[in-house]
Amino acid sequence: MKKLTNKFEKFYKAIKIVRNKFIDSIQENKSSIHIYTHLDADGLSGGAILGKALIRENLPFQITVLKQLEKETISNISKDVKSLNKFLIFTDFGSGQYLELQNELILKEKFNSFIILDHHLPQNISTKEDTDLLKEIFNKTYQWHVNPYFYGFDGSSEVSGAGLSYFFAKCLNENNIDLSCNAIIGAIGDIQNQGPNKSFFGLNSLILDDAKNFGFIEIKSDLNFSSIKPLNEAIAYSKEINLPGLTGDVNRTLIFLKTLGILMENSKGNIKALNELNNDEKQKISSAIIEYGSLKLDIEPSKIIEKLIINRFLLKNEAVGTDLYDAAEFSNLLNACGRLNHASLGIAIAMGDRKSSYQKSQEILLNYKKTLFKSLIWLKDNNKIQQKEYIQYFLAEDIIPDTMVGTIASMLVFENSEGFDISKPIFGLAKREDENVYKVSGRAHQMIVNKGVNLSKAIREACEQTGLDVLGGGHPPAAGTKIPVDKVEIYLENCNLAIRKQLHGK
Ligand code: C5P
Ligand code: C5P
Ligand code: ZN
Repeated sequence: MKKLTNKFEKFYKAIKIVRNKFIDSIQENKSSIHIYTHLDADGLSGGAILGKALIRENLPFQITVLKQLEKETISNISKDVKSLNKFLIFTDFGSGQYLELQNELILKEKFNSFIILDHHLPQNISTKEDTDLLKEIFNKTYQWHVNPYFYGFDGSSEVSGAGLSYFFAKCLNENNIDLSCNAIIGAIGDIQNQGPNKSFFGLNSLILDDAKNFGFIEIKSDLNFSSIKPLNEAIAYSKEINLPGLTGDVNRTLIFLKTLGILMENSKGNIKALNELNNDEKQKISSAIIEYGSLKLDIEPSKIIEKLIINRFLLKNEAVGTDLYDAAEFSNLLNACGRLNHASLGIAIAMGDRKSSYQKSQEILLNYKKTLFKSLIWLKDNNKIQQKEYIQYFLAEDIIPDTMVGTIASMLVFENSEGFDISKPIFGLAKREDENVYKVSGRAHQMIVNKGVNLSKAIREACEQTGLDVLGGGHPPAAGTKIPVDKVEIYLENCNLAIRKQLHGK
């Protein structure tokens, strides 16, 4: 906390500036509020936080969830913005389009009643090291644009869109501190708990402090294996924990578990999953893996523990045993709703509906899991992942919907799937229904991000090299755009060249 103080003070001052602008504007114009947000778990959490905060102030609002804030959408928003008397809030996008918003709203329409609460690299910024340019953008836009990179926070790991919405809500009213849970759910959706043992850092750790101090979240240590797969499979196919002799071999892993004296079959005769084991059994497995791993790999036990033991963030106001109790599962449920065209259900659940929306979401979650499973099998069985020298890619054909292609690409990276090369970024492409464009989703493992891969930069550079007038970007490990169907080959080649440059300087 101490180390953050200086940066945090500057950041919070910026939040206060946009809060004041918001209050002054809605009081003066008597406007209602229109929130625009993104369809993933972070976006839905951010939208819900703002919605909840506005309900509590008795302020009228509406929420629109978008696949992305594209040029055409901004131009549509700007068309009747003057006559509608709305105050606009963009969350979980807007920074990557800030120039577009500035041109269309402020310059063309002379419309100033909007703010951006976003954590993406701003338009025309390639890396967080572009500090002079960031300062310039901050100076020109801070009255309506909050972005963590302006204050030295990394938007891809230290705060999410929901986190920024949370700081705004808390600044509006201290009672909104309970919404810290939603911000943590959003940050998990954006895979920001990437510290040791899946901990949070930066602004996210301050949000977590709020949630812990007020008793909304409890952190529990657990083994870093799927809690629902048969445990021998979960260990053998773990992407993060490599145990020579066990990894990839479910039979030997089962023998390893049985020699610990643990009864591995449940009453139905199936191999137990992690969530069917008690604390003593988990403790036995943990000690045995630490010992086995440190002997086989000749590394310090602490290095193994960093990956083996993870934090689970438990939401104390949710019913134990439901998929809302563990923040990671809550986040997964929101992703399912957003990505299968039921964003409003996701918003309702994140805002607290535990009745009809929650019930309806169960079927969507099942469909989502089926779609993920089917898509991954299809990619593998048909060798759909194609290789270039520096990138790999797949075309979703009519199997994977455009809203799911990013999630599939993320899963390939995290699950280190067969046919997937962890040393290259992956680009998933899905044709949008009724549009002659491909949606592009790029994902890279942190290992190659640490070596210099920056997908936000690569995607924008490839758009420019291909001569496309489209918006694109995101974060170094995850970025996206859309491209005309007939430009796909040249575009992928330009991505290939951009990554080569990032890794080899030419
Ligand atoms: O727009 P937003 O920042 O919320 O989305 C980030 C997206 O990138 C999420 O869908 C998240 O799952 C994905 N991501 C990823 N790998 C990372 C970080 C984010 O796949 N290391
Ligand atoms: O759409 P997808 O999940 O692949 O997006 C990955 C990341 O890139 C997200 O953070 C998303 O907001 C961002 N993105 C962007 N501009 C686009 C497309 C995606 O900033 N045009
Ligand atoms: Zn986000």
